[in-house]
Amino acid sequence: MRVHVADHPLIAHKLTYLREKSTDSPTFRRLAEELMTLLAYEATREVRVEPFDIETPVARTRGIKLARPKPLIVPILRAGLGMLEGMVRLLPSAEVGFLGMIRNEETLEATTYANRLPDDLSGRQVFLLDPMLATGGSLVMAIEYLAGLGARDITAVTLLSAPEGIAHVRTEADKLNIPVTLVTGAIDERLNEHGYIVPGLGDAGDRLYGSV
Ligand code: PRP
Ligand code: URA
Repeated sequence: MRVHVADHPLIAHKLTYLREKSTDSPTFRRLAEELMTLLAYEATREVRVEPFDIETPVARTRGIKLARPKPLIVPILRAGLGMLEGMVRLLPSAEVGFLGMIRNEETLEATTYANRLPDDLSGRQVFLLDPMLATGGSLVMAIEYLAGLGARDITAVTLLSAPEGIAHVRTEADKLNIPVTLVTGAIDERLNEHGYIVPGLGDAGDRLYGSV
């Protein structure tokens, strides 16, 4: 698995305000979206393109456009929804699928409770969005799910990642023989005894949408 930490002062600045516990939900949502747009620049570095001939007012020239099949963006509900707008702003012609997952806060095991995805993902570039990579259980399950539909080109985008989660995803992606790329805003220190990222930002879903 390739891991890219987006090392940019604007990303570090926005992450700092996202982490701060007094940041309210509207500001948190705005920052998550803005961070996604900045990370999208890195995440789409290898988006597939094809040549495209155009005429400028001066001459004919050859440019590029996004190749078919269109890329697929998959936010992992709930918290991944907070990153969706920031991604589609850069890739407006991409399609969007959904995966709903929840982590049991006692066992830290993830389960899938909803999905809306194309039946066949072979040949598709898939961008998985989830702000938090903690134990990696949710992301591994999402990758396995997409791989089961034929996906072989998966880029996961997270705002924060824990070293333990990265190691877990790497081991499982290697077993599946899937070339996963991870683009993240920062790699934090560790997980605490409750499976929370330290220093982290707390519960991303709750901070975006409240503790329903
Ligand atoms: C959070 C987060 C990830 C997951 C990360 O979701 O958005 O999906 O936990 O933890 P893991 O790496 O240990 O699996 P949560 O299950 O809290 O659901 P939510 O997005 O609905 O709040
Ligand atoms: N999920 C979160 O929202 N935050 C963490 O720190 C870990 C899992």
